[in-house]
Amino acid sequence: MALGLSLKLDRQAGPALYQQLAEQIKLQIVQGRLPAGTQLPTVRELARTLGVTRVTVQMAYHELQNAGLVEATVGRGTFVSRHVEARPPAQSLGRQLTPDAVVNDILQLGQIAGLRSLADAAPDASLFPAQEFWQALDECRGEALEMVRYGASQGDPLLRVEVARLLQDRGMAVTPDEVLIVAGVTQGLALVAQALARPGEPVLVEQPTYLGFLHTLKAHGVQPLAVPLDEEGPIPEAVERLAIQQRPRFFYTVPTFQNPTGVCATPARRAQLLALAEQYGFLLVEDDLYARLSYEGPPPPAVKSLDRSESVIHVGGFSKLLMPGLRLGYVVAPPPIHERLLSLRRAMDLCSPPLLQRALARFLHEDGLKRHLRRVLPLYRQRRDALLAALRHHMPPAVQWTRPQGGFCVWLTLPRRSTLADLQQAALQQGWAFAPGEVFLTRPSPDYHLRLCFGAQPPEWIAQGVEVLANLIRERLDRQESVIEPPSDWLPLV
Ligand SMILES: Cc1ncc(COP(=O)(O)O)c(C=O)c1O
Repeated sequence: MALGLSLKLDRQAGPALYQQLAEQIKLQIVQGRLPAGTQLPTVRELARTLGVTRVTVQMAYHELQNAGLVEATVGRGTFVSRHVEARPPAQSLGRQLTPDAVVNDILQLGQIAGLRSLADAAPDASLFPAQEFWQALDECRGEALEMVRYGASQGDPLLRVEVARLLQDRGMAVTPDEVLIVAGVTQGLALVAQALARPGEPVLVEQPTYLGFLHTLKAHGVQPLAVPLDEEGPIPEAVERLAIQQRPRFFYTVPTFQNPTGVCATPARRAQLLALAEQYGFLLVEDDLYARLSYEGPPPPAVKSLDRSESVIHVGGFSKLLMPGLRLGYVVAPPPIHERLLSLRRAMDLCSPPLLQRALARFLHEDGLKRHLRRVLPLYRQRRDALLAALRHHMPPAVQWTRPQGGFCVWLTLPRRSTLADLQQAALQQGWAFAPGEVFLTRPSPDYHLRLCFGAQPPEWIAQGVEVLANLIRERLDRQESVIEPPSDWLPLV
C-alpha cells in the first residue's frame, strides 16, 4: 500500500464503501499525508488488501479523479495530482476571527483538496442546471455585437423585464425601469451603504447578521448597532429604542430565512418594522436572497410588497438559487435613491457583463429557474432534515439550534467554554469546515455559536460531519476548563 495510506471501512453503517474509501484518501491528501506525485496502490492490490470488489476501488478512484485529486495514466498507475500542490492547505484556514478573514476562508474552501464543508451558505454546484444554462449562453451568439460592448449601467433591459416578472411572486408590482442590476447582492448592499450612510454614522443590523455585510460596513467606516432576533424576527422594541436613541440611517434585515439563523420574520413583525421605519424616518434594507428556498410552502411576501411610503430598499439575487459565480443580483429602491445608486454604480464598475446578463434573461424567460427550483427544493429540504436529525441524534444536551423553514443555515448555541477555543482547527484536522459564530455578531454574546450550512453536501455526509463535530464538542464540554494560574509573585489587590 502507498506510503502513509491507512484505510478502515465500516461495513455496517455509513455511506457506500466506495464513498468511504474515496473520502478517506481525500482526507489523507488534504492533511498532506499523501503528497502530490504519490502513487496509489493498483485497483487489484487495494481491493485484495481491503477485501472489497475491484469495482468499489475503481469507483472510489473515479470519484477522486473527478475531484481533480488524482491522475490515472494507463500502464503507469494512479498518482496524487500535481494540482494538489497549487491549492491552499486546510491549515491556512481559521487563523483569524474577523468577518473579512472568515469570508476569505469561505471563498477558499472550494479549492482545498478533500475538505468537506458545512461552512459555506452555498448551493450544491453539482445541481446547477448546466445544460440549460449553457444552451441559453449559446443562444446569445446571434447577438454577439451587442454582447461585446459595454452594457447599460442599469442592466440588460431583457433581464430587468424578467426580474420584474419574477418579483411578482414576492408580492411586488414593479416595472423593469425600477430594477437596477448589480454584481450580486454584495455590490447592491455596498452601493446602498455608500449612498445612505457616511463614515461614523450608525445603522441597525440583526444580531447575528450576515458577516459579509459587516465587512462591507467596516470597509465604509459605518457603525453597526445590534438588534436582537427571536424566532419571530427582529424584536420591535429594540428597533424602536435604537431608532430613538441613535437615529440610524437604515436597518439592514434579512427577513426571510436569515443568514446565519434561518429565522423567517412573521407577517406581523414585517408590518411592525415597516411602521417603525415610517414613524422614525429610517429606511429598511431588505435582503431577500434566500426567500425562494422555502421548504414548507410559500414564504411570506417581501416587506417591500407592503411599502406605500418609499421606506424599503429591496435587494435580491441568484447566488443561492443558481450559482454564486454568476455575480448577478438586483436592487429595487425608491426613485431618488435609485438614481443615486445608479450614479455610484457607474463610478464603481460601469456595468455587469452583458453576455451573462442576457444568458440569464433567456434562462429566466424559458422558466428555467422555476424548473430548477422544482427539482432542487425537495433535495435541499431533505438535507435540512438530515442536518436536524443528525443534530438531534449526536449533539450533547447543552447544545441548542434553530430549525429553519428555508434557506441554507442552522445556528448553534453552546455554553461558552475556554475548551472550545480550538474547535474549528480540530474539525479542520478531521477534514471538516464550519463557520465560527463570533464573526456574525456586532456585540459579544454570552454563549458560543456556530453556523452550519446544509445546501452543498449530500445527506449522508451531513450526518457524518455532524457526528464528527458533536464528538469534538462533547470532548471539550466534558473537559475541565483550563484555569490560568496567576504568577507566583502575584498578590490579590483586595
Ligand atoms: C444574506 C446574504 N446576503 C448577501 C450575500 C452575498 O450575495 P451575492 O453572492 O449575491 O453577492 C450572502 C451570501 O452568503 C448572504 O448570505
